[in-house]
Amino acid sequence: MIFALTEGCDMTILKKEEEIKARLQVICICKGIKQGRICDIIQTKNCTSVDDVNQKTGSGSGGCKGRRCKPVIESILANQGRPLSKPHTTTEPNEIDETDFTPMDTTT
Ligand code: FES
Repeated sequence: MIFALTEGCDMTILKKEEEIKARLQVICICKGIKQGRICDIIQTKNCTSVDDVNQKTGSGSGGCKGRRCKPVIESILANQGRPLSKPHTTTEPNEIDETDFTPMDTTT
């Protein structure tokens, strides 16, 4: 069935579309930082470590303190700054201690 969907399509367009979708995926959920920004910073600023990326993008400074985004940023670094088609975290939401999060002030 998938073959039928791609039959006759220009594979270059499909790959480009896949890359665009990947770049739009939010990697640092706490700060809303997308994969495209992280990839661009790695490539243009020659970042070689997660700390480097975090300093330049603000990732890793959210409520989870980088527990969710750090493994994905490490994977992107290992992929030489190219977008991952299916980024995922190695930390499941259930594994995160909720006391790590700063409660939002809803009184204002
Ligand atoms: S997901 Fe990046 S700091 Fe929480």
